[in-house]
Amino acid sequence: MLSNPQSDRVVDFKPPFIPQSSEKIRTLSQQVAYLLSNTHQMLPLSATILSSLDRDLPIILHSAFIDEDNKALLEVHKTLYIIYEVNLSHPLSPVCLHEHSPWLLTIRNQIENAWLNYELPRIQKQLPSETEAKHPKLLCNWFVEQARKESDIDKCVLKFLKNHASVEEFNTFMLSDATLNYRFCDALALAQLHFCETVKAEIAHNMWDECGHGVAEKSHTRQLTQMLAFLGLQQPTSPIWSDWHPYAGHNLYFCFGFNRKHYFKGIGNLAMPEIFDSSRNRAVVAGLERLYADARVKCEYFYNHIEADEKHGLNWLNNVITPIVEVQPEAGMELAVGGAIRMEAMRRYNKYLAVKFGLLK
Ligand SMILES: [Fe+2]
Ligand SMILES: [Fe+2]
Repeated sequence: MLSNPQSDRVVDFKPPFIPQSSEKIRTLSQQVAYLLSNTHQMLPLSATILSSLDRDLPIILHSAFIDEDNKALLEVHKTLYIIYEVNLSHPLSPVCLHEHSPWLLTIRNQIENAWLNYELPRIQKQLPSETEAKHPKLLCNWFVEQARKESDIDKCVLKFLKNHASVEEFNTFMLSDATLNYRFCDALALAQLHFCETVKAEIAHNMWDECGHGVAEKSHTRQLTQMLAFLGLQQPTSPIWSDWHPYAGHNLYFCFGFNRKHYFKGIGNLAMPEIFDSSRNRAVVAGLERLYADARVKCEYFYNHIEADEKHGLNWLNNVITPIVEVQPEAGMELAVGGAIRMEAMRRYNKYLAVKFGLLK
């Protein structure tokens, strides 16, 4: 990506995590990245890797989602991240040739199925009843109630950012958040495919805000680049995470967004942060003001999101969740499932931050 804050960001030509040499092709993510770098003719190791993946993938998925091995979970989610990036890559990049390749879709489907089978039992207790889920008002109340639930770790992380995080720790937080913040507009665009006019209009409103009301300099991603530049930070070319939790939170947008059957889950997943994000952004802004006298100028990105998300939250409830459930009551539970998995992802992300900042005893 171009990092000049005054210029347009242009999509990278090279996909992330391509191994530099054949010695570095050991893990699942390295194998998939290597296969994606195979453009016009078979690279020497491709056939061997493909046949070993047939055998090894079920073993890795078992380690990740049954044994809950952190290393395997990281590998699986990093791989899924690499796969989703294919759909978002430079249109002229040879990596696009693989977008619908059977080998890639097979790996993706196997990971997504194993992952959702892992997530669903974990959120059952949070879900509304069948009757509540089919009732627009009751389902909206459920969304607000869930979004307001804060674990001790959630509170601890926000308190830390607000009152204690140093400049370096804030920089780590910004860089950790940046990958998703840059991709959010794309995640939103994936929800724009038609379901009904009211929903399309509300998402278009949201998108209009993301794009700075048609003024490129005011687009949220441009403001983010400016903020990073003000703070002396480079836009990361790939995620800085070495933990599966943030990868999973990021991948969730694209697992739902790239699968039509998960459309309603995707909507629930997008709605939830619009409801809880403004209180998170308030804590971030308080922390920035503690560290920088000119925080408002430097970090317009976060200031803008406080007010914007307050409106977005309410509008998503009234103009997205409500009309969907009115015309399609059966979609209510899907919306709730998406929202509940997002809350779980948010808690995991906070746990990742808590570990990173040494907040857990
Ligand atoms: Fe935004
Ligand atoms: Fe928003």
